Amino acid sequence: MPAIVLVGLQWGDEGKGKITDFYAGNADCVIRFQGGNNAGHTVIVNKKKYKFHLIPSGAVRGKKIVIANGVVVDPEVLLEEISMLKENNIEPDLVISERAHVIMPYHRILDGAEEKFLGNKKIGTTGRGIGPCYADKIARHGIRMGDIIDEEIFKEKLDRILPIKQAILTALKIKKIDAEEIFKKYSSYGKKLKKYVNDTTLIIHNLLEEGKILLFEGAQGCMLDIDFGTYPYVTSSHPISGGAPVGAGISPKKIDKIIGVLKAYTTRVGMGPMPTELKDKIGNHLVEKGNEYGTTTGRKRRCGWLDGVAASYACRLNGADEIALTKLDVLDGLKKVKICIAYECEGEEIKNFPSSLHILSKCKAVYEELDGWESTRGVKKYEDLPKEARQYISFIESYLKKPVTIISNGPSRRETIRR
Ligand code: GDP
Ligand code: IMO
Ligand code: MG
Repeated sequence: MPAIVLVGLQWGDEGKGKITDFYAGNADCVIRFQGGNNAGHTVIVNKKKYKFHLIPSGAVRGKKIVIANGVVVDPEVLLEEISMLKENNIEPDLVISERAHVIMPYHRILDGAEEKFLGNKKIGTTGRGIGPCYADKIARHGIRMGDIIDEEIFKEKLDRILPIKQAILTALKIKKIDAEEIFKKYSSYGKKLKKYVNDTTLIIHNLLEEGKILLFEGAQGCMLDIDFGTYPYVTSSHPISGGAPVGAGISPKKIDKIIGVLKAYTTRVGMGPMPTELKDKIGNHLVEKGNEYGTTTGRKRRCGWLDGVAASYACRLNGADEIALTKLDVLDGLKKVKICIAYECEGEEIKNFPSSLHILSKCKAVYEELDGWESTRGVKKYEDLPKEARQYISFIESYLKKPVTIISNGPSRRETIRR
């Protein structure tokens, strides 16, 4: 199984970091292929908590790690993460694609300004400049990692791009760009990162040829995909499995397995419809018991029952072969648990996730109610889980027509049940 893609099946924060770390034990290399430091992936090993925004979670295992071409890189955040690893005695075996785009200061400024203009119709972005950076990439106004490591090329690129950015910022009455300051700052980041920058497509290709095991770590989740998510309340990349070959420069034929990470309930940060959202006692229970506060921005996550309609759509789009079900323990102690099996929209039953937000915002969740259970904590074997918890898992499997092969019943590495 040399190339395994791991993706989130919901609105992000499914526990991809934890599951990536789990699988990374058997992998030779872990690769991030999209997103940027809007991601926040948590790995907990022996009570030590690591929070990654850019660095692949395989770093904790000391594996080779790659930030591929599809990622947008904030060099300052990356340098901080490298330092954090070094402080923990991990020397990262890191390669960064020379094609990965760089998040510039004006991207962050524009991200904030656009949100401000949108007012109560804002997306609720992480404010990290992700959207404007990807927009520049597509508009062909981007600056790439390969550019900032060479002062002459970087100067040329800035001379070409900054006048456009300055004109936009002036029109928006936003502060003047200090070209010299940007040049100095980003050249110095380039100097520090130069040793890591390379053609990652060739490195990945060679590892595949050698039969090494590669794990592609998705960020965000299917419902935040730029095409297939709840547009415009989405991120600006392709978190679905199809994003991996493009974002890392490999043939789709090389992918052997796709693992979908699914939280036992639903969470979402930021704005946009969420049919199973609960604003009641149970919603609060999920927030508090699940510690549902954003890893990146600290925002409280919106919580609700598992949305089977969205999950089924996500399984289809990703071609998930199997499911890693996370945070099952957060449902412990509830008398009843529910799964959304259809939507009801103006008297009509909908089973296929709608593309129109107009329709989605009118959808009401139709639930299947199952018995709850006492506790799953500390359980090491599937057979030892409470009968009702196993019934919950079986229901998910039959509804999604996918096997649940991993069950996570706690945040730390050892709280993982393999079936
Ligand atoms: P990611 O973005 O998909 O990597 O997920 P995050 O790390 O942002 O959010 C998941 C949160 O849940 C983190 O705080 C994890 O430590 C925690 N977590 C992961 N799996 C479990 C689990 O099975 N049970 C509990 N209680 N917490 C978990
Ligand atoms: P991980 O990898 C949850 C959300 C933001 C916002 C929308 C657009 O930890 O699962 P952006 O800054 O990307 O332009 O924001 O996407 N978002 C996430 N939500 N987990 C994430 O990453 C997210 N990354 C972005 O809250 O709604
Ligand atoms: Mg997260």
